[in-house]
Amino acid sequence: MSERSPLYDDPALARAYARVSAANVYNAAYERPAMHEVLGDVHGLDVLDAGCAAGEHSAWLVAAGACVVALDASAAMVGLASERLGAAARVLEADLAQPLALPDAAFDVVLCSLTLHYLEDWHPPLREFRRVLRLGGRLVVSVHHPFVTLGMVGDYHAVQRVDDAFSNYAEEPIPVRYYHRSLERIVADLRAGGFAISALHEPRLQADADVRDAELAARLRTQPWFLIVEAEAAAR
Ligand SMILES: C[S@@+](CC[C@H](N)C(=O)[O-])C[C@H]1O[C@@H](n2cnc3c(N)ncnc32)[C@H](O)[C@@H]1O
Repeated sequence: MSERSPLYDDPALARAYARVSAANVYNAAYERPAMHEVLGDVHGLDVLDAGCAAGEHSAWLVAAGACVVALDASAAMVGLASERLGAAARVLEADLAQPLALPDAAFDVVLCSLTLHYLEDWHPPLREFRRVLRLGGRLVVSVHHPFVTLGMVGDYHAVQRVDDAFSNYAEEPIPVRYYHRSLERIVADLRAGGFAISALHEPRLQADADVRDAELAARLRTQPWFLIVEAEAAAR
């Protein structure tokens, strides 16, 4: 199991994460709409939501007609996602650092939203994503933009741990640990995992971001925060 934050594992904090991320700028007015635009029409597709948290993306996928399997390493998040999705999706507790108990070539799309940056080594999860995807299937990943984490590490080119603390989820900031990796490293790891990159996206804010948090919206309107990578499962 990779190193974890109480933000995702503590049941009360996991509930706070679910409540806040349902409506905040970062997720609701920025990352999720951008990911959904990149995903496009998912009707009838088999989709794995890897790092599903409380199931926001999965709920959208189900409503859009996808057949969804969702997974997360946090038992608290799996509980929240199961409660939310009911029988509409299969929800599993699974660590992306370990082999996944899922069959080969079972999915058309793997969505991995704001989760891979919690793993120091991307090779095991990327190999697993390639294994469970059908040839030509799509991987859509969002992570912290390396130009943002650059300000938090000493060496842009190295994979480096960032010890951060997130506010807005409790009275005190909650410690969160994740990993910076350079753009070159992101591309190299995806290629080594068996993917052909089709596009890099640097999302723009939704118009309603100002209503949610005008100060944050003003900042995110002119600088990157998350990076979305769209890739295709290549022939092996
Ligand atoms: C920032 S949340 C993103 C969640 C979700 N995609 C969303 O947009 O709401 C990160 C999630 O990744 C999960 N996670 C972190 N490390 C993981 C791992 N090694 N395997 C599976 N899930 C992991 C956490 O439990 C948490 O639910």
